[in-house]
Amino acid sequence: SHGVFTYDPGFMSTGSCESAITYIDGDAGVLLHRGYPIAELAQHSDYLETCYLLLYGELPNEAEKAEFVKTVKNHTMVQQSMQKFLEGFRNDAHPMAVMVGLVGALSAFYQDHMDINDPKHREIAAFRLISKMPTIAAMCYKYSKGQPVTYPRNDLSYAENFLHMMFSTPCEEYKVNPVFAKAMDRIFILHADHEQNASTSTVRLAGSSGANPFACIAAGIATLWGPAHGGANEAVLTMLEEIGDESRIDEFIAKAKDKNDPFRLMGFGHRVYKNFDPRAKVMRETCDQVLAELGKSDDPMLKIAKRLEQIALEDPYFVERKLYPNVDFYSGIIMKAIGIPTSMFTVIFAMARTIGWISHWNEMISGPYKIGRPRQLYVGHTERSYPKK
Ligand code: SDX
Repeated sequence: SHGVFTYDPGFMSTGSCESAITYIDGDAGVLLHRGYPIAELAQHSDYLETCYLLLYGELPNEAEKAEFVKTVKNHTMVQQSMQKFLEGFRNDAHPMAVMVGLVGALSAFYQDHMDINDPKHREIAAFRLISKMPTIAAMCYKYSKGQPVTYPRNDLSYAENFLHMMFSTPCEEYKVNPVFAKAMDRIFILHADHEQNASTSTVRLAGSSGANPFACIAAGIATLWGPAHGGANEAVLTMLEEIGDESRIDEFIAKAKDKNDPFRLMGFGHRVYKNFDPRAKVMRETCDQVLAELGKSDDPMLKIAKRLEQIALEDPYFVERKLYPNVDFYSGIIMKAIGIPTSMFTVIFAMARTIGWISHWNEMISGPYKIGRPRQLYVGHTERSYPKK
Protein backbone atom coordinates (compact mmCIF):
# COMPACT_ATOMS: atom_id res chain seq x y z
CA SER A 1 0.00 0.00 0.00
CA HIS A 2 1.57 3.24 -1.09
CA GLY A 3 -1.18 5.84 -1.19
CA VAL A 4 -1.53 5.64 -4.94
CA PHE A 5 -4.28 7.84 -6.32
CA THR A 6 -6.51 5.61 -8.44
CA TYR A 7 -9.74 6.54 -10.11
CA ASP A 8 -12.82 4.46 -10.49
CA PRO A 9 -15.75 5.92 -12.47
CA GLY A 10 -17.87 5.16 -9.41
CA PHE A 11 -15.83 7.75 -7.49
CA MET A 12 -16.20 10.56 -10.03
CA SER A 13 -16.35 13.35 -7.48
CA THR A 14 -13.30 12.34 -5.46
CA GLY A 15 -10.10 10.44 -6.04
CA SER A 16 -9.67 7.31 -3.98
CA CYS A 17 -6.37 5.99 -2.66
CA GLU A 18 -4.81 3.13 -0.73
CA SER A 19 -3.40 3.78 2.73
CA ALA A 20 -2.17 1.71 5.67
CA ILE A 21 -2.19 4.50 8.26
CA THR A 22 -5.74 4.76 9.67
CA TYR A 23 -8.82 2.56 9.51
CA ILE A 24 -12.33 3.83 10.27
CA ASP A 25 -15.54 1.79 10.48
CA GLY A 26 -18.14 4.59 10.63
CA ASP A 27 -21.06 2.26 11.34
CA ALA A 28 -19.29 0.49 14.21
CA GLY A 29 -17.58 3.63 15.55
CA VAL A 30 -14.09 2.11 15.14
CA LEU A 31 -10.90 4.16 14.66
CA LEU A 32 -7.52 2.38 14.43
CA HIS A 33 -4.10 3.97 13.89
CA ARG A 34 -1.77 1.33 12.37
CA GLY A 35 -4.14 -1.23 13.96
CA TYR A 36 -4.21 0.28 17.48
CA PRO A 37 -7.65 1.49 18.78
CA ILE A 38 -7.73 5.24 19.45
CA ALA A 39 -9.01 4.73 23.02
CA GLU A 40 -5.95 2.57 23.86
CA LEU A 41 -3.53 5.10 22.38
CA ALA A 42 -5.28 7.93 24.27
CA GLN A 43 -5.01 5.94 27.51
CA HIS A 44 -1.50 4.44 27.24
CA SER A 45 0.48 6.44 24.65
CA ASP A 46 1.52 10.06 24.30
CA TYR A 47 1.43 12.37 21.30
CA LEU A 48 5.06 12.01 20.18
CA GLU A 49 4.87 8.21 20.47
CA THR A 50 1.67 8.32 18.38
CA CYS A 51 3.53 10.54 15.85
CA TYR A 52 6.24 7.86 15.59
CA LEU A 53 3.56 5.18 15.09
CA LEU A 54 1.74 7.12 12.35
CA LEU A 55 4.95 8.01 10.51
CA TYR A 56 6.87 4.72 10.74
CA GLY A 57 4.04 2.18 11.20
CA GLU A 58 5.18 0.63 14.52
CA LEU A 59 5.34 1.77 18.14
CA PRO A 60 8.93 2.76 19.08
CA ASN A 61 11.00 0.92 21.67
CA GLU A 62 12.52 3.00 24.46
CA ALA A 63 15.69 3.90 22.55
CA GLU A 64 13.78 4.73 19.34
CA LYS A 65 11.36 6.94 21.24
CA ALA A 66 14.18 8.78 23.07
CA GLU A 67 15.94 9.43 19.75
CA PHE A 68 12.69 10.62 18.12
CA VAL A 69 11.92 13.02 21.00
CA LYS A 70 15.51 14.34 20.93
CA THR A 71 15.31 15.03 17.18
CA VAL A 72 11.94 16.78 17.55
CA LYS A 73 13.51 19.03 20.20
CA ASN A 74 16.34 19.94 17.78
CA HIS A 75 13.92 21.72 15.46
CA THR A 76 11.55 23.61 17.78
CA MET A 77 12.81 27.11 16.87
CA VAL A 78 11.83 28.93 13.68
CA GLN A 79 14.03 31.27 11.60
CA GLN A 80 14.15 34.68 13.26
CA SER A 81 12.98 36.37 10.03
CA MET A 82 9.60 34.62 10.47
CA GLN A 83 9.03 37.23 13.19
CA LYS A 84 9.12 39.98 10.52
CA PHE A 85 6.59 38.05 8.41
CA LEU A 86 4.38 37.69 11.49
CA GLU A 87 4.52 41.44 12.11
CA GLY A 88 3.12 42.07 8.63
CA PHE A 89 -0.29 40.82 9.81
CA ARG A 90 -2.85 43.04 11.54
CA ASN A 91 -2.99 42.27 15.27
CA ASP A 92 -6.66 41.28 14.92
CA ALA A 93 -5.99 38.82 12.08
CA HIS A 94 -7.57 35.41 12.78
CA PRO A 95 -4.81 33.09 14.04
CA MET A 96 -5.70 30.57 11.30
CA ALA A 97 -4.94 33.19 8.64
CA VAL A 98 -1.58 33.80 10.30
CA MET A 99 -0.84 30.08 10.61
CA VAL A 100 -1.61 29.41 6.92
CA GLY A 101 0.81 32.21 5.99
CA LEU A 102 3.62 31.25 8.37
CA VAL A 103 3.54 27.52 7.49
CA GLY A 104 3.47 28.31 3.77
CA ALA A 105 6.45 30.61 4.36
CA LEU A 106 8.47 27.65 5.72
CA SER A 107 8.77 26.59 2.04
CA ALA A 108 10.95 29.66 1.47
CA PHE A 109 13.51 28.40 3.99
CA TYR A 110 13.65 24.70 3.10
CA GLN A 111 12.23 24.16 -0.36
CA ASP A 112 15.37 24.96 -2.40
CA HIS A 113 17.56 22.14 -1.11
CA MET A 114 14.81 19.56 -0.63
CA ASP A 115 14.44 16.48 -2.85
CA ILE A 116 11.05 14.95 -2.01
CA ASN A 117 12.21 11.66 -3.55
CA ASP A 118 14.91 11.31 -0.89
CA PRO A 119 13.47 9.51 2.18
CA LYS A 120 15.90 11.33 4.46
CA HIS A 121 14.73 14.72 3.13
CA ARG A 122 11.10 13.68 3.66
CA GLU A 123 11.91 12.60 7.22
CA ILE A 124 13.59 15.92 8.05
CA ALA A 125 10.61 17.81 6.64
CA ALA A 126 8.34 15.74 8.92
CA PHE A 127 10.52 16.53 11.95
CA ARG A 128 10.60 20.24 11.11
CA LEU A 129 6.81 20.37 10.84
CA ILE A 130 6.09 18.31 13.98
CA SER A 131 8.59 20.46 15.92
CA LYS A 132 7.72 23.89 14.61
CA MET A 133 3.93 23.76 14.56
CA PRO A 134 3.57 24.41 18.35
CA THR A 135 6.07 27.27 18.10
CA ILE A 136 4.17 28.78 15.15
CA ALA A 137 0.78 28.23 16.85
CA ALA A 138 1.97 30.01 19.98
CA MET A 139 3.43 32.83 17.82
CA CYS A 140 -0.05 33.32 16.29
CA TYR A 141 -1.55 33.61 19.77
CA LYS A 142 1.13 35.90 21.24
CA TYR A 143 0.90 38.26 18.26
CA SER A 144 -2.90 38.48 18.61
CA LYS A 145 -2.36 39.44 22.28
CA GLY A 146 0.27 42.05 21.44
CA GLN A 147 2.76 40.11 23.59
CA PRO A 148 6.35 39.16 22.66
CA VAL A 149 6.86 35.64 21.30
CA THR A 150 8.00 33.10 23.92
CA TYR A 151 10.84 30.83 22.85
CA PRO A 152 10.46 27.03 23.13
CA ARG A 153 12.00 25.25 26.12
CA ASN A 154 13.49 21.87 25.24
CA ASP A 155 13.50 20.67 28.85
CA LEU A 156 9.68 20.46 28.73
CA SER A 157 7.43 17.82 27.15
CA TYR A 158 5.67 18.62 23.86
CA ALA A 159 2.39 19.63 25.55
CA GLU A 160 4.11 21.42 28.48
CA ASN A 161 6.26 23.38 26.01
CA PHE A 162 3.19 24.43 24.02
CA LEU A 163 1.41 25.74 27.13
CA HIS A 164 4.66 27.46 28.19
CA MET A 165 4.97 29.23 24.80
CA MET A 166 1.29 30.23 24.97
CA PHE A 167 1.17 31.60 28.49
CA SER A 168 4.69 32.47 29.75
CA THR A 169 5.80 36.10 29.40
CA PRO A 170 9.27 37.69 29.82
CA CYS A 171 8.06 38.85 33.23
CA GLU A 172 6.65 35.55 34.46
CA GLU A 173 7.17 31.86 33.70
CA TYR A 174 3.83 30.02 33.33
CA LYS A 175 3.56 27.15 35.82
CA VAL A 176 2.22 24.23 33.78
CA ASN A 177 -0.58 22.33 35.53
CA PRO A 178 0.15 18.62 34.83
CA VAL A 179 -3.59 17.91 34.41
CA PHE A 180 -3.74 20.57 31.67
CA ALA A 181 -0.60 19.20 29.98
CA LYS A 182 -2.05 15.67 30.03
CA ALA A 183 -5.35 16.97 28.62
CA MET A 184 -3.55 18.85 25.81
CA ASP A 185 -1.47 15.78 24.97
CA ARG A 186 -4.66 13.70 24.79
CA ILE A 187 -6.33 16.34 22.56
CA PHE A 188 -3.28 16.15 20.27
CA ILE A 189 -3.57 12.33 20.08
CA LEU A 190 -7.32 12.45 19.39
CA HIS A 191 -6.82 14.90 16.50
CA ALA A 192 -3.67 13.29 15.05
CA ASP A 193 -5.16 11.57 12.01
CA HIS A 194 -8.47 10.58 10.53
CA GLU A 195 -7.99 8.85 7.17
CA GLN A 196 -9.12 10.71 4.04
CA ASN A 197 -10.93 13.71 5.60
CA ALA A 198 -11.17 16.91 3.57
CA SER A 199 -7.88 18.45 4.74
CA THR A 200 -5.86 15.23 4.43
CA SER A 201 -7.25 14.66 0.94
CA THR A 202 -6.18 18.23 0.12
CA VAL A 203 -2.64 17.54 1.32
CA ARG A 204 -2.52 14.37 -0.79
CA LEU A 205 -3.89 16.13 -3.86
CA ALA A 206 -1.43 19.01 -3.47
CA GLY A 207 1.41 16.54 -2.83
CA SER A 208 0.50 14.51 -5.92
CA SER A 209 1.69 17.42 -8.08
CA GLY A 210 5.16 17.21 -6.48
CA ALA A 211 4.69 20.41 -4.43
CA ASN A 212 6.92 20.73 -1.36
CA PRO A 213 5.48 19.41 1.93
CA PHE A 214 5.35 22.82 3.64
CA ALA A 215 3.09 24.21 0.89
CA CYS A 216 0.97 21.04 1.01
CA ILE A 217 0.50 21.34 4.79
CA ALA A 218 -0.46 25.02 4.37
CA ALA A 219 -3.17 23.86 1.93
CA GLY A 220 -4.36 21.36 4.55
CA ILE A 221 -4.54 24.09 7.20
CA ALA A 222 -6.64 26.27 4.89
CA THR A 223 -9.07 23.39 4.31
CA LEU A 224 -9.34 22.52 8.00
CA TRP A 225 -10.42 26.10 8.80
CA GLY A 226 -13.98 25.65 7.52
CA PRO A 227 -16.78 25.29 10.18
CA ALA A 228 -17.92 22.01 8.57
CA HIS A 229 -14.46 20.56 9.32
CA GLY A 230 -11.87 21.65 11.88
CA GLY A 231 -13.50 25.03 12.44
CA ALA A 232 -16.35 23.18 14.18
CA ASN A 233 -14.59 23.19 17.57
CA GLU A 234 -14.57 26.99 17.57
CA ALA A 235 -18.18 27.00 16.29
CA VAL A 236 -19.28 24.65 19.12
CA LEU A 237 -18.18 27.13 21.81
CA THR A 238 -19.81 30.01 19.91
CA MET A 239 -23.02 27.94 19.76
CA LEU A 240 -22.91 26.99 23.48
CA GLU A 241 -22.29 30.64 24.40
CA GLU A 242 -25.20 31.70 22.14
CA ILE A 243 -27.51 29.14 23.79
CA GLY A 244 -26.26 30.52 27.11
CA ASP A 245 -28.73 28.68 29.33
CA GLU A 246 -30.38 25.23 29.45
CA SER A 247 -33.77 26.93 29.15
CA ARG A 248 -32.96 27.92 25.56
CA ILE A 249 -31.88 24.47 24.34
CA ASP A 250 -35.27 23.55 22.89
CA GLU A 251 -35.23 26.73 20.78
CA PHE A 252 -31.93 25.71 19.18
CA ILE A 253 -33.00 22.08 18.73
CA ALA A 254 -36.01 23.38 16.76
CA LYS A 255 -33.68 25.54 14.63
CA ALA A 256 -31.47 22.50 13.93
CA LYS A 257 -34.53 20.58 12.67
CA ASP A 258 -35.90 23.46 10.60
CA LYS A 259 -34.97 22.81 6.95
CA ASN A 260 -35.38 26.52 6.21
CA ASP A 261 -32.85 27.41 8.89
CA PRO A 262 -29.16 26.91 7.93
CA PHE A 263 -28.32 26.40 11.64
CA ARG A 264 -26.79 23.02 12.45
CA LEU A 265 -25.79 21.68 15.86
CA MET A 266 -22.05 22.25 15.77
CA GLY A 267 -20.06 19.25 16.97
CA PHE A 268 -22.74 16.80 15.86
CA GLY A 269 -22.83 14.55 12.81
CA HIS A 270 -20.07 13.21 10.63
CA ARG A 271 -19.45 12.28 7.00
CA VAL A 272 -18.36 8.79 8.04
CA TYR A 273 -19.39 8.03 11.64
CA LYS A 274 -23.02 6.95 11.81
CA ASN A 275 -22.34 5.80 15.34
CA PHE A 276 -20.56 7.44 18.27
CA ASP A 277 -17.24 9.05 17.24
CA PRO A 278 -14.83 7.01 19.45
CA ARG A 279 -12.78 10.18 19.98
CA ALA A 280 -15.79 12.01 21.45
CA LYS A 281 -16.10 9.47 24.29
CA VAL A 282 -12.45 9.98 25.34
CA MET A 283 -12.82 13.74 24.92
CA ARG A 284 -15.87 13.78 27.21
CA GLU A 285 -13.96 11.85 29.92
CA THR A 286 -11.03 14.27 29.59
CA CYS A 287 -13.45 17.20 29.83
CA ASP A 288 -14.90 15.82 33.07
CA GLN A 289 -11.37 15.36 34.50
CA VAL A 290 -10.19 18.88 33.66
CA LEU A 291 -13.32 20.61 34.94
CA ALA A 292 -13.24 18.50 38.12
CA GLU A 293 -9.59 19.55 38.60
CA LEU A 294 -10.74 23.16 38.35
CA GLY A 295 -13.73 22.60 40.63
CA LYS A 296 -15.95 23.56 37.66
CA SER A 297 -17.93 20.32 37.20
CA ASP A 298 -21.09 22.43 37.25
CA ASP A 299 -19.77 24.67 34.44
CA PRO A 300 -22.88 25.96 32.56
CA MET A 301 -21.27 25.20 29.16
CA LEU A 302 -20.70 21.58 30.21
CA LYS A 303 -24.29 21.27 31.44
CA ILE A 304 -25.66 22.60 28.13
CA ALA A 305 -23.33 20.28 26.19
CA LYS A 306 -24.40 17.19 28.14
CA ARG A 307 -28.08 18.08 27.73
CA LEU A 308 -27.59 18.48 23.95
CA GLU A 309 -25.82 15.11 23.81
CA GLN A 310 -28.66 13.47 25.72
CA ILE A 311 -31.24 14.97 23.32
CA ALA A 312 -29.24 13.81 20.29
CA LEU A 313 -29.29 10.27 21.70
CA GLU A 314 -33.05 10.34 22.37
CA ASP A 315 -34.73 12.68 19.85
CA PRO A 316 -36.00 10.72 16.78
CA TYR A 317 -34.79 13.49 14.39
CA PHE A 318 -31.17 12.97 15.45
CA VAL A 319 -31.46 9.22 16.07
CA GLU A 320 -32.91 8.60 12.56
CA ARG A 321 -30.08 10.65 11.04
CA LYS A 322 -27.46 9.00 13.26
CA LEU A 323 -26.18 12.35 14.48
CA TYR A 324 -23.81 11.76 17.40
CA PRO A 325 -21.31 14.12 19.06
CA ASN A 326 -18.05 14.17 17.11
CA VAL A 327 -14.45 14.91 18.10
CA ASP A 328 -15.13 18.66 18.13
CA PHE A 329 -18.00 18.65 20.60
CA TYR A 330 -16.13 18.57 23.92
CA SER A 331 -12.63 19.66 22.93
CA GLY A 332 -13.49 23.36 23.03
CA ILE A 333 -14.86 23.18 26.58
CA ILE A 334 -11.56 21.66 27.73
CA MET A 335 -9.44 24.25 25.94
CA LYS A 336 -11.57 27.13 27.22
CA ALA A 337 -11.20 25.78 30.78
CA ILE A 338 -7.40 25.74 30.30
CA GLY A 339 -7.55 29.40 29.24
CA ILE A 340 -7.17 28.99 25.48
CA PRO A 341 -9.34 31.43 23.45
CA THR A 342 -11.84 30.02 20.92
CA SER A 343 -9.91 31.65 18.05
CA MET A 344 -7.04 29.25 18.80
CA PHE A 345 -9.08 26.02 18.81
CA THR A 346 -8.70 25.22 15.11
CA VAL A 347 -5.04 26.28 15.22
CA ILE A 348 -4.54 23.55 17.84
CA PHE A 349 -6.46 21.07 15.69
CA ALA A 350 -4.14 21.92 12.76
CA MET A 351 -1.08 21.54 14.99
CA ALA A 352 -2.20 18.08 16.12
CA ARG A 353 -3.30 16.96 12.64
CA THR A 354 0.06 17.87 11.08
CA ILE A 355 1.44 14.40 11.85
CA GLY A 356 -1.52 12.83 10.02
CA TRP A 357 -1.09 15.10 7.03
CA ILE A 358 2.66 14.56 6.74
CA SER A 359 2.35 10.78 7.28
CA HIS A 360 -0.16 10.53 4.42
CA TRP A 361 2.02 12.77 2.24
CA ASN A 362 5.10 10.64 3.00
CA GLU A 363 3.18 7.40 2.38
CA MET A 364 2.07 8.62 -1.04
CA ILE A 365 5.43 10.12 -2.16
CA SER A 366 7.39 7.05 -0.98
CA GLY A 367 5.67 4.86 -3.56
CA PRO A 368 4.62 5.19 -7.20
CA TYR A 369 1.95 7.87 -7.55
CA LYS A 370 0.23 9.94 -10.21
CA ILE A 371 -1.03 13.48 -10.05
CA GLY A 372 -4.55 13.52 -8.63
CA ARG A 373 -7.29 14.40 -11.09
CA PRO A 374 -10.85 14.23 -9.63
CA ARG A 375 -13.43 13.63 -12.35
CA GLN A 376 -16.75 15.47 -12.94
CA LEU A 377 -20.19 14.74 -14.34
CA TYR A 378 -20.62 17.48 -16.99
CA VAL A 379 -24.12 18.96 -16.79
CA GLY A 380 -23.58 22.13 -18.84
CA HIS A 381 -24.41 23.20 -22.43
CA THR A 382 -23.72 20.94 -25.39
CA GLU A 383 -21.52 22.53 -28.08
CA ARG A 384 -22.99 25.71 -29.66
CA SER A 385 -21.72 28.39 -32.12
CA TYR A 386 -20.77 31.98 -31.29
CA PRO A 387 -23.70 34.23 -32.38
CA LYS A 388 -23.02 36.04 -35.74
CA LYS A 389 -23.10 39.87 -35.32
C1 SDX B 1 -14.57 16.94 11.50
O1 SDX B 1 -14.03 13.82 7.72
C2 SDX B 1 -13.51 13.79 8.86
O2 SDX B 1 -12.98 12.78 9.31
C3 SDX B 1 -13.55 15.09 9.64
C4 SDX B 1 -13.04 15.02 11.08
C5 SDX B 1 -11.55 14.76 11.11
O3 SDX B 1 -11.09 14.28 12.14
O4 SDX B 1 -10.85 15.15 10.14
O5 SDX B 1 -13.71 13.99 11.77
C6 SDX B 1 -13.26 16.33 11.81
O6 SDX B 1 -14.64 17.71 10.58
C7 SDX B 1 -15.78 16.53 12.30
C8 SDX B 1 -17.10 17.23 11.80
C9 SDX B 1 -17.12 18.63 12.41
N1 SDX B 1 -18.22 19.40 11.82
C10 SDX B 1 -19.29 19.74 12.58
O7 SDX B 1 -19.48 19.36 13.73
C11 SDX B 1 -20.24 20.72 11.90
C12 SDX B 1 -21.68 20.25 12.13
N2 SDX B 1 -21.84 18.99 11.40
C13 SDX B 1 -22.39 19.08 10.09
O8 SDX B 1 -22.16 20.22 9.38
C14 SDX B 1 -22.43 17.75 9.37
O9 SDX B 1 -22.80 16.79 10.25
C15 SDX B 1 -21.20 17.29 8.64
C16 SDX B 1 -20.67 18.32 7.70
C17 SDX B 1 -20.14 16.89 9.58
C18 SDX B 1 -21.64 16.10 7.82
O10 SDX B 1 -22.58 16.63 6.93
P1 SDX B 1 -23.40 15.71 5.97
O11 SDX B 1 -22.52 14.67 5.38
O12 SDX B 1 -24.22 16.54 5.05
O13 SDX B 1 -24.34 15.00 6.99
P2 SDX B 1 -25.31 13.95 6.52
O14 SDX B 1 -25.37 13.86 5.04
O15 SDX B 1 -24.99 12.69 7.25
O16 SDX B 1 -26.73 14.59 7.00
C19 SDX B 1 -27.80 13.73 7.10
C20 SDX B 1 -28.94 14.57 7.65
C21 SDX B 1 -29.27 15.80 6.80
O17 SDX B 1 -30.67 16.03 7.02
P3 SDX B 1 -31.73 15.46 5.88
O18 SDX B 1 -31.39 16.18 4.62
O19 SDX B 1 -31.48 13.95 5.81
O20 SDX B 1 -33.09 15.81 6.44
O21 SDX B 1 -28.58 15.08 8.95
C22 SDX B 1 -28.67 16.50 8.95
C23 SDX B 1 -28.54 16.92 7.49
O22 SDX B 1 -29.20 18.17 7.31
N3 SDX B 1 -27.52 16.96 9.74
C24 SDX B 1 -27.63 17.79 10.78
C25 SDX B 1 -26.32 17.93 11.28
N4 SDX B 1 -25.48 17.21 10.54
C26 SDX B 1 -26.24 16.61 9.57
N5 SDX B 1 -28.71 18.43 11.32
C27 SDX B 1 -28.44 19.22 12.41
N6 SDX B 1 -27.20 19.40 12.95
C28 SDX B 1 -26.14 18.78 12.41
N7 SDX B 1 -24.93 18.95 12.94
